[in-house]
Amino acid sequence: MTVAIEMGQTSAGAPAALDLEELLATRLLVQGNSGSGKSHLLRRLLEQSAPWVQQTIIDPEGDFVSLGERYGHLVIDAEDHTERGLQAAGERARIHRVSTVLNLEGLDAENQMRRAAAFLGGLFEVARDHWYPMLVVVDEAQLFAPAAAGEVSDEARKLSLGAMTNLMCRGRKRGLAGIIATQRLAKLAKNVAAEASNFLMGRTFLDIDMARAADLLGMERRQAEAFRELERGHFMALGPALSRRPLSMRIGSTETSPRNGTPRLMPLPEATLEDARAIILAAPPPETVRPQRRPSPDLLDQLMAAKAAPLDIRPEPTEPQPSAEDLAERRERMDRILRAILAEPDAGFRVIGVLYQEFVVRCRIEGLASVVPDLSEFRRMLTRARAGVGSDMAEDDAWRDVSVRASLLPEDMQGVFMMIARAAKEGWPCPSDAAIARAYGSHSLRRARRLLDYIEEQGLIVCQIDGVGRRTVTLVELAWATAPGDPNAGEEEPGSSAA
Ligand SMILES: Nc1ncnc2c1ncn2[C@@H]1O[C@H](COP(=O)(O)OP(=O)(O)OP(=O)(O)O)[C@@H](O)[C@H]1O
Ligand SMILES: [Mg+2]
Repeated sequence: MTVAIEMGQTSAGAPAALDLEELLATRLLVQGNSGSGKSHLLRRLLEQSAPWVQQTIIDPEGDFVSLGERYGHLVIDAEDHTERGLQAAGERARIHRVSTVLNLEGLDAENQMRRAAAFLGGLFEVARDHWYPMLVVVDEAQLFAPAAAGEVSDEARKLSLGAMTNLMCRGRKRGLAGIIATQRLAKLAKNVAAEASNFLMGRTFLDIDMARAADLLGMERRQAEAFRELERGHFMALGPALSRRPLSMRIGSTETSPRNGTPRLMPLPEATLEDARAIILAAPPPETVRPQRRPSPDLLDQLMAAKAAPLDIRPEPTEPQPSAEDLAERRERMDRILRAILAEPDAGFRVIGVLYQEFVVRCRIEGLASVVPDLSEFRRMLTRARAGVGSDMAEDDAWRDVSVRASLLPEDMQGVFMMIARAAKEGWPCPSDAAIARAYGSHSLRRARRLLDYIEEQGLIVCQIDGVGRRTVTLVELAWATAPGDPNAGEEEPGSSAA
């Protein structure tokens, strides 16, 4: 079963759906300037999904307390509780599966960070038995995961950033789906933003935010200019839970509204909520009861050295370092994804921004979000892939030599050079003009021939035509030569059947 909620309408008037189950696995980032409609969007999402999934909102302004009246969220006024109390409340909210609003209104930045971190820590640290799916919405996320140090203490920043990183990077396994909104992408810590696979981009004025948004979406900066024109309540959607292609949508209406200036006291609606309050906000257990979770580092080292296998007390590194095998495996998987994309008809003629966008989405779907290469690395991968060279070959010494030579050429020609080099290394027939054009991302055979001339002029190759018009290309210095090939043959790359 898939549960799709309706966020609003697409520009074509169709319902704009958000797949909740996919969202749980792939997280969401919302960006837009003040007044673009982010908080409204979050409210719509929360209201629509409230019947389906437990939720919590980290609410710096107290905007969302009205959800309590209508949907039964327990509002926790962070001002009234200690960090330890909030950590306990977080754990209990998960154990008892109660939706909550953490109202941080009235606290200074330092205490907003510390208390949000404590509550998030509670959600995160709860025992495995309670890892139910849950949406964790953080409005104004740049307050909790700032890109740069501010006037708060280093400790508060570390706690808060750590909690947000845990939420976005390691929350999925624990059932926590991070949904973060920010006015300024450039102010949000990169590692936190990078873990979201779904994006809703609203009106954005500043170039630096636009550039970050374009990078995240894998769009050309030029395309991202469209974010300037978006009206209030209109967002560009992309990601596995939203749409495989950028989709413009208008967010629908909400049942509740942001609280107005005059807060009213409301009687608590139901006895069950009263119970929840009693259970969740009971005094935290005394400090000393908390068991020490891990042995000291020295002892751990000794245990690891002794390889005491059945003891499950390995340290949990905050940033697990992938092994060489892991890296190789990921590279392989990324190569495979790239090959699949390039195998699509017309892939050779699509602009790099579109290919990159497709690549990023597929990587994220495969759980490779944290290792997605940036656009310039992607360009290099693309060059190699178009030349039929995998990452494994790229490690080869002779190939490194070829790459160095290739780097003398303009970037868009490097793929062609690599393709020819590959044919020469393997002794395959020289690629046809059509194959060269395709690797160059062009349909023009004349351009393919001009390209070869250019590479020859640069002193990297020597082209020779034999008596029957077949072409041989020899790589200067390496002295690898292709077999003679017909320049007018079709597009099929020599050796592609062998690869
Ligand atoms: N899709 C929409 N339909 C109707 N009204 C909307 C919509 N989106 C936003 N609004 C209204 O526009 C105003 C600003 O929206 P909102 O508070 O969500 O902006 P925001 O992006 O959260 O701004 P800030 O960053 O300053 O918090 C609110 O009064 C809200 O009710
Ligand atoms: Mg807002």
